This record gives sequence, structure tokens and C-alpha cells, in this order.
Amino acid sequence: MSSYAVAFAPGRANLIGEHTDYNQGLALPFAIGEGVTVRATALGDGRIETLAVDVGERDSFEVDDPERAEGWRAFVRGAAGELLDAGVELRGAELEITGTVPRGAGLSSSAALEVAVVLALLAVSDAPTPDRIELAKLCSRIENDWVGAQTGLLDQISSLYGERDRALRIDFRSLEVRPVALELGEFRLVTVDSGEKHTHAGSGYNERRAECARACSELGVDSLRDVTLAAADELPAPLSKRARHVITENERVDAAVAALGRADMAELGRLLDASHASLRDCYDVSTRAVEEAVHRCKLAGALGARIMGGGFGGHVIALLPPDAGQLEGALEVRPGDGARVTER
Ligand code: GLA
Repeated sequence: MSSYAVAFAPGRANLIGEHTDYNQGLALPFAIGEGVTVRATALGDGRIETLAVDVGERDSFEVDDPERAEGWRAFVRGAAGELLDAGVELRGAELEITGTVPRGAGLSSSAALEVAVVLALLAVSDAPTPDRIELAKLCSRIENDWVGAQTGLLDQISSLYGERDRALRIDFRSLEVRPVALELGEFRLVTVDSGEKHTHAGSGYNERRAECARACSELGVDSLRDVTLAAADELPAPLSKRARHVITENERVDAAVAALGRADMAELGRLLDASHASLRDCYDVSTRAVEEAVHRCKLAGALGARIMGGGFGGHVIALLPPDAGQLEGALEVRPGDGARVTER
């Protein structure tokens, strides 16, 4: 029996394909080096005792009865609750959580937290690990049902499937995940903080999701995946713009895969810019602080820059050429390995 286990789950950056996951569309994210580590030690008394080291806070609940809570506690209790619902026999444990992903910054600290807690609880309970798509769905239920953010599967799949030097082309209709070489030579991908924090539960994220559902019901389809631009343009405002973003963003994902295949960095940059314009003008998820961050990237010579993640603040991702100028606060992001149990 394992009485001790350590799990690590990375955050993610998304190269392109934003707000497409809950529309059965396409995206091209990658796991990053930064992530959340959870150390779990089995406890005999049927409780889960958690210490969130970075915020210096604790939580304690009965393993068989995780009651609702707010903030980071919702993720830990949700992890226990969803594992119980999935039939896992959880043991009591002491959890120590530490992380290196900036929170509320569009780098998916939430998915890193969920995935790491779930993997650590499974390992310390000696329970078999479900396949990665099942795990991604379980983790996304934590966010949907315990945290109140109606997010899709982008972040969880990225964290679980990450591979060094690879982006992941995810098809959210078939749930096929295809690694795509992301070797940029002297070019760099960086993220820049807009300085504006966001939470999905509190921002316009759920509203955008509801608008897409309304667009589908007006058009009589299950998802926006096969909707044409001509059909989208018939929708009332703002649904027409929302659908236009999703349709064109899916096209940009495959155009980006093709550009990477040809090592065509100028085209990749152009696609990032086009994605940003669509997120700003059609999806309305940019803010003044984000626009300023994009502007700073362009001034430094970025070939392309766009808002990343749920929007309404958070981070911008930019593609910098070898001769880029100084870009204050830029954090290089490189594709790294996916979530794993590192010790048991
Ligand atoms: C957040 C959500 C994801 C996805 C992105 C937008 O990161 O967690 O599911 O919808 O926003 O692409």
C-alpha cells in the first residue's frame, strides 16, 4: 500500500483555438513547465487535511462527506466528491499543495490544481487511474459543479496529455488528441501579464457559453462546429459575432498546424493577430489592460500576440522573433510533459 505519493500537474498555454472547446471545435494548446505539486500522506482517521502552502491556509473535511466550500477548497473537496461519485474508495490523507503557476492569469492554475489533487488522491488510495479522457472529464466536473465555472475540457486535456516540444491539436468533437511538433528554433513564445486578474466563475465566461448555446438552438444544431459563416450571419446580434469567432477560430487552428509544419513563423504570427482581433471584436473578451499588453508585445517586435484563456483579463501570448526588443515581464513558455505521479 502506498502511504505517500507526490503528483505534479502542469498549467497550459494555448497557442491558438480560444473558446472553441465548449463548441466542439479545435484548439492547439501545450502544457507548460510550471504547475502544481501535491504531496499526499495517508491518514488513518478518514479525513482529508490540506495545507495550501502558497496562501498559508488549511482545510479539513471528512473524506466520505466533502461539503461545499469556496476558493481553492472547492477544488480539493470537489476532487474528493467526484472521485467518490466515480466509485473510488478514498483513504484519508494529508495533502500539501504548492504551485508555480500564477493564479488567475490564463495559464490554467485551476486545471493544474484539480489534476494534481485527483492524481495524488488516487495514488495514495491505491486506486487504479482511469484513462486520461475520463480523468479530464472528471476534473472538469469539479470546475463545473463545485467551483461554478462552466469551462470546457481544454485545460484538463492539455495538463494530462502534455509532451515536451509538442503542442496538442485537440478535436473536441471526437476528443482525438494529436501531438504536433512545436520547435521554434530561435523564435520564442512568451506570455505577458495584463495585470488584470480574472475568475471564470465571476467573469463573462459563463455568459459567452450561454450565448453559444443560444446560437445553436436558434440554428437547430448541437454545436457550432458545422455551422457556416453564411448561417452565422443570419443570427441576431451578438450571437452572429460569437458564432463567427468560433467558426473562423477553428479554421485558424488548422492553418496554424500547417504553418508550423512549414516553419512559417510569419504566418503563425499573422494567425495569432487574427485570433486576437476576433476575440476582441467578435467575442468581446478583451479589456483595456489586455489591449495595452498586446500593444507592448507588438512594440517589442512580436510577429503576433493575442489574449489567451478565458479572457476578461489574464495573460497575452506572443511570438517573438530572435531580434525582438526588450519586453518587460515576459515569461517564456515551452511545451513540457503532462501530469504524472512522481513519487509513491
Ligand atoms: C478557459 C477554460 C477553457 C476554455 C478557455 C477559452 O481557459 O477553462 O475550457 O474554454 O477558457 O478557450
